[in-house]
Amino acid sequence: MLEQTAIKLKGIHKSFSNGWLKKSLVIKNLDLEIKNNEIFGYLGANGAGKTTTFKLMLGLIKPDKGEISFWGNPVSDLKTRALVGYLPEHPYFYSYLTAKEALEFYASLFDMDRALKKKRVGDLLDLVGLDHARGVQLRKFSRGMLQRIGIAQAMVNDPKLLILDEPMSGLDPMGRKDMRDIILNCRDQGKTIIFSSHIIADVEMICDRAGILAKGELQQIVAMDDPVTAGETSWEITCRGGQLNLSGLDRETDIKQVVRGSRNIISTRDQDLAGRIMEQVKEQGLDLISFASGRKSIEDIYIKSIDDGEDDHE
Ligand SMILES: Nc1ncnc2c1ncn2[C@@H]1O[C@H](COP(=O)(O)OP(=O)(O)O)[C@@H](O)[C@H]1O
Ligand SMILES: [Mg+2]
Repeated sequence: MLEQTAIKLKGIHKSFSNGWLKKSLVIKNLDLEIKNNEIFGYLGANGAGKTTTFKLMLGLIKPDKGEISFWGNPVSDLKTRALVGYLPEHPYFYSYLTAKEALEFYASLFDMDRALKKKRVGDLLDLVGLDHARGVQLRKFSRGMLQRIGIAQAMVNDPKLLILDEPMSGLDPMGRKDMRDIILNCRDQGKTIIFSSHIIADVEMICDRAGILAKGELQQIVAMDDPVTAGETSWEITCRGGQLNLSGLDRETDIKQVVRGSRNIISTRDQDLAGRIMEQVKEQGLDLISFASGRKSIEDIYIKSIDDGEDDHE
């Protein structure tokens, strides 16, 4: 019986030596728990310590102190580790293999009979949308296709948990969407996913929770469906055709209106008010261009953590 928590990190410190007697503390007192079957986004700027955290989780490097466990077992437990799939930040593939051959190669590293191997490779090519390219050599693959092979490779052993290091990096908007769909699909299959990114939108769109990391310290964990920790949602209404007359709403202080060229952008943190603004836009005959929502808190925390980080270099 697997327990509720998939990964648990407690009191992790990690330093690297950089030069004679010099050490830099890269991960500081990190506590983190990932629950079974959640999508956890690990958000942080370059150099925040995301990859280092993943390497620690996988036991590729050792913490100075602290404890890491998967479903209550230490990382050194090989049986447990076999339940974890990993997509490295810069995956390397034998470029002269076809997509199918590459996955068959990875499958051959595990104890699987031929029939299962064949089925698994077929299912994975399907899952990542590469069935049409099964016979194409990887050297002819685009960045997006290689990322998909990377995910498929991480899943070849049917792991319960996937650790994906920057799976969306270098992808165009369509590629990012495909990757999000693949991740959501994995979650629907009962898997737990932790992935890193430095782009807020990637994390916000699909995660159940997000952890914001800056300079090796977890700033905050935000649960997307929890109005308290998710903080204020801001609503932004963009329209054209004149400035919105706010007189019907003038007693409300939580409205900001800015004009950018022909566009008029009205924002608020109050959902009801957003609805009333939309009604006014319609009533006043303005053209609605977009209506969007975003979690202000994640952006605020993230931007603040990056600003704080930059101050240190001055
Ligand atoms: N093997 C290493 N030796 C020395 N410093 C390292 C090593 N690996 C990472 N670092 C440093 O640790 C910090 C965090 O790196 P990393 O975990 O790769 O960040 P991220 O993945 O968030 O971009 C960086 O300052 C990086 O230079
Ligand atoms: Mg990294």
